[in-house]
Amino acid sequence: MNILVVGSGGRENALAWKLAQSPRCDALFIAPGNGGSPNTLPIDPLDFEALAKAIQTHAIGLVVVGPEQPLAEGLVDFLRERKDLGPLKVVGPRRAAAMLESSKDFAKSFMVRHGIPTAKHKTFTKQELVEGYRFIDSLRPPYVLKADGLAGGKGVLILPDADTAKRELSLMLKTEKHSEASPKVVIEEFLPGKECSVFVLSNGKDFVFLPTAKDYKRVGEGDQGPNTGGMGVVAPWPHSSPEFLAEVERDIVRPTLLGMAEEGQPYTGFLYVGLMVVEGKPYVIEYNCRMGDPETQAVMPLIKSDLLPWLEGSAGGNWPEDMLESEAGVAATVVLCANGYPGTYETGMPLRISESDRALVFQAGTRRSGEHLLSQGGRVLAVTGLGADLEEALDVAYGYLSENPWSAGFYRRDIGYEWLGESKA
Ligand code: AMP
Ligand code: GLY
Repeated sequence: MNILVVGSGGRENALAWKLAQSPRCDALFIAPGNGGSPNTLPIDPLDFEALAKAIQTHAIGLVVVGPEQPLAEGLVDFLRERKDLGPLKVVGPRRAAAMLESSKDFAKSFMVRHGIPTAKHKTFTKQELVEGYRFIDSLRPPYVLKADGLAGGKGVLILPDADTAKRELSLMLKTEKHSEASPKVVIEEFLPGKECSVFVLSNGKDFVFLPTAKDYKRVGEGDQGPNTGGMGVVAPWPHSSPEFLAEVERDIVRPTLLGMAEEGQPYTGFLYVGLMVVEGKPYVIEYNCRMGDPETQAVMPLIKSDLLPWLEGSAGGNWPEDMLESEAGVAATVVLCANGYPGTYETGMPLRISESDRALVFQAGTRRSGEHLLSQGGRVLAVTGLGADLEEALDVAYGYLSENPWSAGFYRRDIGYEWLGESKA
């Protein structure tokens, strides 16, 4: 089977890396990919017509859509309706189901309708500013404000006091130029706890768990500074247990899939559930309609089974009867960023990637220029180490980064460190 992965980040390279190992993968393409992708097709993921044409040209049998934007804009609907593309399987949710990520307001109301545990919330528009202020006064600090639409990880503000929260609410609703501007803002209760990311792949009814993960979103060590797309990952989540996953399945995953099916929008493809675990109990803080980046770069190497049958199953094929097997051990991913990220940074900086027999190096913001590899984005590489335990996995990832210094970039040096020394790590 010929496979097309849509997207250009480290996530897409990790998906491609995994799928290329399937005995049933004949050829694999990435559109548009980056400097580290095999068989790149220079197509914008939002140019649906050009993607359809490439699918015909390369006799593609399965498409995996990596990023949220084409999903939110209906790529899956578009491709499924194109009968001229043959028996094509498309992995991902339709536009209406992708609203679990593309509208925080939809996601929150959905959770309330289906009794899925989440932080108490209300949504406000520009006309409801005064009600918004009153709601802020009814909550305890800190205050969580979320822009309604897709915001590339930058639409959430956590504010220490009511005055700042009111000022930001007003700016978000009234100032179009504000970076978190949105016609609707969700205000929610702050949940103090431990974050955990859960990934499932579903055909709308059946589903399978992929390894869990812990993502490091803040740019600075000790979780300081602004939010980023993700600076590092530990997988599986160090506190995961069969009992915890059973609770997540019962209280969150099943009601989510059942609820979407009941509402006439069965959820297919990858679903990423961002949890806050408060005193052992999981609450949903966000849904994403795709895999995480850089979580995929840690999760894929932990999957032992061939993923292709499950992807086909999620896109209308037979759902596999067997278990999805994971590797024993731990994966740790550290992201190498361009200096300045997540603010402004330079691109076009030369970069060398050396062969490593231990670390997996997934390219993200890179491009090729003739013989040279150049940086092209804020998050440049994701380096994954695998080990029998967390310490070994971190040694592999950090070992690679210290042996291959890059003066135009930086990385967080504390990924996973809070878990070291714990018996489960
Ligand atoms: P989100 O984009 O919804 O994942 O939010 C970004 C980050 O804000 C999350 O990873 C959490 O660290 C934090 N966050 C979001 N919602 C809450 C909440 N209700 N309580 C505490 N922290 C939150
Ligand atoms: N790493 C966070 C995300 O992919 O949303």
